[in-house]
Amino acid sequence: MTAGRFEIDPDIRVAATLPARVYSDPDAFTLQRERIFARTWQYAGHDDLVSVAGQVCPFTLLPGALDEPLVLTRDGDDRLHCLSNVCTHRGTLVVEGAGHLQQLRCCYHGRRFTLDGQFHSMPEFEGTAGFPSKADDLPPVSLAQLERFLMVALAPAMPFDDVAGPLRARLAGLPFADLVYDGAAAREFLIEATWALYIDNYLEGFHIPYVHSSLATTLDYGAYAVELERYAVLQLGIAKPGERAFALPKGHRDANRSVAAYYFWLFPTTMFNVYPWGVSVNVVTPLAVDRTRVSFLPFVWDEGARGEGAGSGLDRVEREDEAIVEAVQRGVRSRLYDRGRYSPTREGGVHHFHRLLAEFMHG
Ligand code: FES
Ligand SMILES: [Fe+2]
Repeated sequence: MTAGRFEIDPDIRVAATLPARVYSDPDAFTLQRERIFARTWQYAGHDDLVSVAGQVCPFTLLPGALDEPLVLTRDGDDRLHCLSNVCTHRGTLVVEGAGHLQQLRCCYHGRRFTLDGQFHSMPEFEGTAGFPSKADDLPPVSLAQLERFLMVALAPAMPFDDVAGPLRARLAGLPFADLVYDGAAAREFLIEATWALYIDNYLEGFHIPYVHSSLATTLDYGAYAVELERYAVLQLGIAKPGERAFALPKGHRDANRSVAAYYFWLFPTTMFNVYPWGVSVNVVTPLAVDRTRVSFLPFVWDEGARGEGAGSGLDRVEREDEAIVEAVQRGVRSRLYDRGRYSPTREGGVHHFHRLLAEFMHG
């Protein structure tokens, strides 16, 4: 398989961008399933989904890429769990819908599990030797929390704190406890392009003056800043004079600049866009090599600030991004295009992402 072999020079000044086949080759996508998505932290939801003891919430992790049936539970001791939702008997799904339960009971032959995933009971198994054993429990899945947001990983290559540490530090003090999920304003976009092109586009503000004329009127292009972390990229949108910005307390490291938006990307598929009104979580779901779903999930702490500045008009910005990313997908299939070069001043985030792709796809 050649899809996995490519180099991205660590020096952005001499580096070439990702080979075009990585964006369009089904083999590359197959490789990414196990080498990237199964080994990294993915967004699973917010804590209201399982806010009281006994609440359960089944979901499929990355449908189309991982298709892993999982279930979130909160047990009687108020502890959160993420478990495999596949019965350890003959493999049917255990929990069919969200609700409140005392135990998890498989509907096929009645095997029961406690809410922390331990085997509880099973009819007609008296004669089975060495039963039950550890293997009859529902396998636990790594679960981590970032403020109100739940992240899970099947076989994480890194502890979650290595991914989210910089975000936690930067946003400490913001009123996450006040966040209210606005489901009515949530949006899903289906994009005819590979997930990595959507990430590329997200990781640079270079295109803002060309693609987003409305956003360009609120942000100071010259002051736009990018910071690279081991498994994350932070972009800071700086407000033009008079435009809406955070009122940060004295002593905050960004107190001397007019931050309109923090755009945090966590490798590989999660974005936390933090605005004066709250947080827009963008979840990128790779459905196929050339099909991606992007979910915009708004969590609000200040409704009054919602119509202003870089955090307003997000639907329009998304449509503009979608159109450009779909055009790139058509372009990278060309026989006449392979790789480009990076702008050292504007494309540090894209280069960093490509380095991570190379690192993980090489295994
Ligand atoms: S598959 Fe669950 S009890 Fe048989
Ligand atoms: Fe954009």
